[in-house]
Amino acid sequence: MSKRFYLTTAIDYTNGAPHLGHAYEKVIADVIARAQRSFGTNVFFLTGLDEHGTKVQQAAQTAGKSPQAFCDELAIEWQAFAQTLGLSNDDFVRTTQPRHREVVQAILTKLHQAGEIYQASYEGWYSARQETFLTEKDQLPDGSWDPIYGDVVKLVEENWYFRLGKHQAWLIDFLETHPSFVQPDYRRNEVLGFLRKEPLADLCISRPAHRLNWGIPLPFAPEWVTYVWFDALVNYYTVPASLGDATALAPLQGFLDRPTTALSLWPADLHVIGKDIVKFHAVYWPIMLRALGAPLPKQLLVHGWWQKDGSKIAKSTGNIVDPVAVIREWGLDAFRYYVVRELAIGPDGNWTDAGFIARYNAELANGLGNLLNRSVSMLNRYRQGVVPEISRELAPDAETAVRAAEAALRTNQLQDALLAIWTLVNRANKYVEETRPFDLNKDPAQAARLDAVLYNLVETCRVLGVLLWPFIPGTAEKIYAQLKVCGEVDQWGATAWGGLLPGHTIGSAVPLFPKKEPAKAP
Ligand code: MSP
Repeated sequence: MSKRFYLTTAIDYTNGAPHLGHAYEKVIADVIARAQRSFGTNVFFLTGLDEHGTKVQQAAQTAGKSPQAFCDELAIEWQAFAQTLGLSNDDFVRTTQPRHREVVQAILTKLHQAGEIYQASYEGWYSARQETFLTEKDQLPDGSWDPIYGDVVKLVEENWYFRLGKHQAWLIDFLETHPSFVQPDYRRNEVLGFLRKEPLADLCISRPAHRLNWGIPLPFAPEWVTYVWFDALVNYYTVPASLGDATALAPLQGFLDRPTTALSLWPADLHVIGKDIVKFHAVYWPIMLRALGAPLPKQLLVHGWWQKDGSKIAKSTGNIVDPVAVIREWGLDAFRYYVVRELAIGPDGNWTDAGFIARYNAELANGLGNLLNRSVSMLNRYRQGVVPEISRELAPDAETAVRAAEAALRTNQLQDALLAIWTLVNRANKYVEETRPFDLNKDPAQAARLDAVLYNLVETCRVLGVLLWPFIPGTAEKIYAQLKVCGEVDQWGATAWGGLLPGHTIGSAVPLFPKKEPAKAP
């Protein structure tokens, strides 16, 4: 089987309920997955959960549950959340699954035997909240620590280290010669800046089991568990390896012997991640794979962070956006549309309820919804719903929008793709004002002209359905259903003008985005 386009999201910590930031990342990855499928690419889309480490262990303790029981309960909620978001993922990985533990342990065994992992003792400042040792550099001028670190204590520990440092020069060269590896560019420059400035220390990849037992035991020293990031990053590799991908299994030969299958996933084509976890993905992960002898992923796509009303999203202050509540009140597609349209992939964004409602009303209800509604209603009213002869008056506008949206989608510029699609929505609404079909209908001499106008309107709506499928698949399907067209809304090729055939009878109009005042702010 030929290589599939393998796309992943970060795996979320199971230490609480999902919020806007998690939802955003999963939606943009889903739009990319669906767009690629629409282009005819064979996609494999992975998302999942990061269930080990102190954060999860502490959250379980607070809830008075065993970590496994705690994660199992949350995993149900998070998997339901993936469905609520309409994700089209092909698999869902949990780092507590046996398939994951096997792959992590096989990798550790190989790296240990190859001399890439060694034991040493370390004394330093330790933040349990951030699960990391700190250096004096992290100290504030008055000797205290940023509150994000929680309690910071002096610890002496025997631990296991992964030789990161010796790969530094290689990594700098790799990032310089592969400019598309980290996107957008400024994120790559940040990583390069940091790598050029200071020597890269080896990475402590163990935690003593007596201090933290919620993790994967080191196979060669079970008194330690694996550092959560070393464990978590491997998830991207677990799924290909456990499904028999030959490229993923080859470096593990002798450590994890599995029959190979025809499935070809590795290397990953795209890891979608947030800006806070770039270092793990652009420094640790490539070096881990290099030490393993495995090919590197093709690209990291780094998105910014959402705030709400200009401040950090935080459960502790109650400054949150609950995506499930928004979806319940406004519908899934309104949510998917807003987050992709509001924020380009890269910079930070700011959620305001007023901004959400404004876009809902202007762009979805009055823009797209109104266009479909009046196009379908007028064809029904003036022509009993029967599609007239093909006319190409709006075809050049549609073709321009299709080309621009495709170019933007192929480079993951999702916001630009929506902007291109809305030029067509706006053009078609303006066309109604210019051609005034309601007046044409009053003059029998204008019957042919009215036919042409109606054709251009309903055909534009059909093309819009195909263009919008990656973003708001439910709406795309509703557009096709109202036009009574079967299949193909998920195939980019169906954007070609002329899909609605003369003589075909469409269905009746149902509002896509009913205008509404918020019952309460979302
Ligand atoms: N478990 C790690 C990732 C391991 S990947 C091998 C983790 N989990 S997380 O739950 O804290 O975050 C998951 C993803 O959500 C990250 O990519 C993170 O950047 C993203 N976001 C968390 N809060 C966010 C916002 N407020 N806005 C946008 N994305 C945010 O990190």
